[in-house]
Amino acid sequence: MRYPSSLGLAISLTVGVVAHINTAQAASFSVQSPDKQLIFTISDEKSQPKYQVSFQGKIIINPSSLGFDFARAPSMRDNMYIRNTSTASHHDTWQQPWGEAREITDHHNELLVTFADKTTQVDQYRVRIRVFDDGLGFRYEVNKNNARYITRELTEFSITDSGESQAWWIPARGWNRYEYTYHTTPLHDASHVHTPFTFKNKHGVHMSIHEAALVDYAGMTLNQRRPGTFISDLTPWSDGIAVKTNGQFKSPWRTIQVGDQATDLLNSHLILNLNEPNKLGDVSWVEPGKYTGIWWGMHIGQHTWGSGEKHGATTERTKAYLNFSAEHGFDGVLVEGWNTGWDGDWFFNGDVFSFTDAYPDFDIAAIKAHAEKVGARLIGHHETSGNVSNYRAQMEAAFALYAQSGVTQVKTGYVADGGNIKRIDARGHPRFEWHDGQFMVNEYLDNIKLAAKYKISINTHEPIKDTGLRRTYPNWLTREGARGQEFNAWGTPPNPPEHTPMLAFTRMLAGPMDFTPGIFDMGFNGLGDKTNRPQTTLAKQLALYVVLYSPVQMAADLPKNYLAKPDAFQFIKDVPTDWEQSIALAGEVGDYVVFARQERAKKHYTGEDWYLGAITDEHARELKIDLDFLVPGKRYEAHIYQDGAQANWQHNPYALTIKKQQVTHKDTLSLRLAASGGAAIRFKAL
Ligand code: NOJ
Ligand code: CA
Repeated sequence: MRYPSSLGLAISLTVGVVAHINTAQAASFSVQSPDKQLIFTISDEKSQPKYQVSFQGKIIINPSSLGFDFARAPSMRDNMYIRNTSTASHHDTWQQPWGEAREITDHHNELLVTFADKTTQVDQYRVRIRVFDDGLGFRYEVNKNNARYITRELTEFSITDSGESQAWWIPARGWNRYEYTYHTTPLHDASHVHTPFTFKNKHGVHMSIHEAALVDYAGMTLNQRRPGTFISDLTPWSDGIAVKTNGQFKSPWRTIQVGDQATDLLNSHLILNLNEPNKLGDVSWVEPGKYTGIWWGMHIGQHTWGSGEKHGATTERTKAYLNFSAEHGFDGVLVEGWNTGWDGDWFFNGDVFSFTDAYPDFDIAAIKAHAEKVGARLIGHHETSGNVSNYRAQMEAAFALYAQSGVTQVKTGYVADGGNIKRIDARGHPRFEWHDGQFMVNEYLDNIKLAAKYKISINTHEPIKDTGLRRTYPNWLTREGARGQEFNAWGTPPNPPEHTPMLAFTRMLAGPMDFTPGIFDMGFNGLGDKTNRPQTTLAKQLALYVVLYSPVQMAADLPKNYLAKPDAFQFIKDVPTDWEQSIALAGEVGDYVVFARQERAKKHYTGEDWYLGAITDEHARELKIDLDFLVPGKRYEAHIYQDGAQANWQHNPYALTIKKQQVTHKDTLSLRLAASGGAAIRFKAL
């Protein structure tokens, strides 16, 4: 449909959608959020598809290009007009089988716009736009055509008032994948970045650009081409092509989360809402939970992955860990280094890993029997060191072995430098790919689908970033995809105090993270060690279980260190990993953050208790927290784990005050967090 030229006239089409007709040569259409604060406008002015975004009456994204360049086919950049539009509105709630919230509300207005070529009159692509109160997403839908190889996606994000905006980011296309410390800079200094890319403008509007439902496409990074204008920079294949299609494809959703305060970003479900519903059917076999592991000992050099005297993964040690886990209520024990191939420098052993042969001192049948006896599970591990063809060849046998050994969860690993994932192509030649290119996007998802066949859930390390696919494939439980606790074991340098309050507003917007909290012995090399120790207090380690959401959480330290601090350990034993609802109560990017979460009713959890986690950067601070999230009229016994008066991460990380006091929803708690400290609270319903 096309409307007659009529300067200044706005035609109201349906709830939330308005067409502005400017001249005979150009049309523009807008769609707004249900609360009318956020407006997306798309136009064909000057025959170029462009969009812009406003929030609370101010433009936040200036007119920005859309389109594609292809190899051996004409671009879809210009000479286009809007041939057709249609609209829809949607409002319902859906349930997550597990998650940070059980019920998710999906309320949005949709606009679908078809662009056609002016000369040939052939449809080029459709842009589907969904605008929610907490942000928006748009995706391209391209029907069968001769343009099959995308060399560039032309989507721009041109930030308004960019010279006065601040950004928090990690570099893209680097050797260490997503494992960098975050930069806090003027937006103009963010040259080439990963998403989620979080920034705020001079009015205090916080935004984060990311993507949802990344399937059979390259990961999007953002490249700042002109000050304030970021262009989608797709991570290419080894042959330079960005995305290979058969001429018909849907791009992932390009997403912009928007709020007038930092915590709005954390309370958004935009990414999940833009993913497709569960495709796996009954997923009652997917279980959140807590685990321990033969793991930290390797990272701090007490044990080795490879064979020999210090071999970590022995039958005896695994049995001892199973006993400890069962006794303290953990579901399983992760064991790394039990399979052959770790000897020598395992970083470069991708060609020789076996995923089924055990070292002689690891008896998987005996471990299965012991696990069944004590009531805990073995958690599997597949380290590929980036040789995905070697893994691919053994994957089915590897899952089959685990399934028959009672394993329901596997941690995978793709340790290799960026651009160095090795695959053997159809002609037998090695090719080297990026972790976030289309080849690996497909490889990671294929792994999830094959695991599902064996009722196995996956925790991916060195992953592709999360784009909400846990909704569609609920056995993709969690992943790494940022600097985790392990960096505190071997330095280079360790995670600074601001790292975790930074993660909350950046990496965590993508989805759950297996950060592996809970290090109790901060001074395994002495507290004076500048590089090899967590730069936090003990209370902050506890608070991380609430702040950094993951449906599976590790108690990462050695059992003896938990037994040495049983009072603090009690919090890890109590805290659930599956939530009825979650609320980000307060925080600023990279400074501090406070979350309250209500446990989900399940097994021995009644669903009535609430938990709170608060963490701070290098600055001590005093927080006043209204407990109005608690159920009115109910009394709770608050178990408060808080930094002691003299605590600080550098010299006195262990000073911890544990107290119990009765509270109701009318109370306000005053919490003093030490430098790089925290607070963890269980509100036990009485
Ligand atoms: C890197 C992972 O992040 C870590 O958890 C694991 O221990 C090593 N790779 C070995 O697989
Ligand atoms: Ca890692």
